[in-house]
Amino acid sequence: MEEKNKSLIVLYSYHHYNTEKIAGVFSKILDAEIKWPDEINPEEILKYDLIGFGSGIYSAKHDGSLLELADELSEVNDKKAFIFSTAGISGESKKIKDHSKLREKLESKGYIIVDEFQCKGFNTNSFLRLFGGMNKGRPNDQDLKNAEEFANKLKKERKNK
Ligand SMILES: Cc1cc2nc3c(=O)[nH]c(=O)nc-3n(C[C@H](O)[C@H](O)[C@H](O)COP(=O)(O)O)c2cc1C
Repeated sequence: MEEKNKSLIVLYSYHHYNTEKIAGVFSKILDAEIKWPDEINPEEILKYDLIGFGSGIYSAKHDGSLLELADELSEVNDKKAFIFSTAGISGESKKIKDHSKLREKLESKGYIIVDEFQCKGFNTNSFLRLFGGMNKGRPNDQDLKNAEEFANKLKKERKNK
């Protein structure tokens, strides 16, 4: 049974724990538990009325563990979700593209994607390591502030329902 105003964040983050920093902000504001894909039983998700799915972007998509979880979810009706990520390169159209695989899977299960968030994350993948990496210090204070605004907007929209 779904409990009112119960939120969950499903997170995968490993490279520099960049996405975990963003998830921490969302968790505080939305009073949401954070769980990793391997800690979740797909049926358990039905208890929550808002679910955020996020990870770093690896090879132009979310981590495989999130995509696999999305494949295992049962079909829902009217359940709200949001998608987030951190990435080496970020921007409005990049976000839409990077999120497309996960978005398609969630939408095919009946999830309504209410909003999407992306910001830059420190990246030392491959040859970048030799040059000290890109986006050092990201997510920075402004990114965390943007994440705060994003979550506050979701919270407000939920209250107005
Ligand atoms: C194996 C690997 C592949 C990556 N591929 C991409 C990519 O395709 N596009 C991009 O913008 N960033 C890419 N990045 C950068 C990460 O998305 C970025 O560093 C992110 O913040 C990592 O998140 P995390 O610290 O939460 O794991 C890649 C990083 C790694 C380690």
